[in-house]
Amino acid sequence: MKRILVVANWKMNLNTHEASTLLHRYHQHIATHRDIEVVVAPSLLSLQPLSVEMDRHRFRLASQDAYFKDEGSYTGEVSFAMLRDLVHYGIVGHSARRVYFGETLEVIREKVAAAVRNGITPILCIGETKQERDAGETKQVIHDHLTTALKNITSDEIENIVIAYEPIWAISTFDGEPAKPSDMQKAIEYIRFQIKELYGERAAKAVRVLYGGSVSDDDASVFLGIPGCDGVLVGAASLNYAKFTGIVDAAYRLARERRPS
Ligand code: 13P
Repeated sequence: MKRILVVANWKMNLNTHEASTLLHRYHQHIATHRDIEVVVAPSLLSLQPLSVEMDRHRFRLASQDAYFKDEGSYTGEVSFAMLRDLVHYGIVGHSARRVYFGETLEVIREKVAAAVRNGITPILCIGETKQERDAGETKQVIHDHLTTALKNITSDEIENIVIAYEPIWAISTFDGEPAKPSDMQKAIEYIRFQIKELYGERAAKAVRVLYGGSVSDDDASVFLGIPGCDGVLVGAASLNYAKFTGIVDAAYRLARERRPS
């Protein structure tokens, strides 16, 4: 059975002290569960201190971004190579990177490869804009994002990659339109279909696919319950320990229902 993945993306929020306080709250309210994996992606600055404070049996760390070269004259950047002993996961190609920082699919491809090369599991974010959706281009965008970003990935490596479907229009910081679970199910099915085309049936089943976009405690069970959805990537609600605990609780309930008695 695949473990349900619940990822907190704190984005550019919380200084180191605030991050530590929120992690402390997570520790108080979120228990270990063998079928759930809870991952925290704080700012780059908080990764090191949180790695010391964190109960690693309970939580895992993720980076929000990193540069694809391992070292060199790239002022201001931090590489996946530098993060390799610190994080288990690395978010790659988040729409904020694409929209605000002009990150191209080619750069995302290099970053996916760099994460894998350094033993970090990429959480590859894909998803269309509102304009693309309105133009009926969702499948085309999913196809383009996947085929470009995974170009350097072998069939041995693909099963260890997480794909997060985050339609840009459903993210609270963008247009914030509510996503329909039936549409999300179709998109997730299409992602698996593309993985099957590229890597075969086994990989399509094994790869973990998450949904992200305005997930909160009141609707988490709906998104987690979508067939083929292996977890959620949470932004705003992850900054509130009560809401995030509610999301993890929804995952607990689902895991309990799924586990054969
Ligand atoms: P929200 O949950 O705030 O919509 O953010 C989603 C997201 O971008 C997670 O990476």
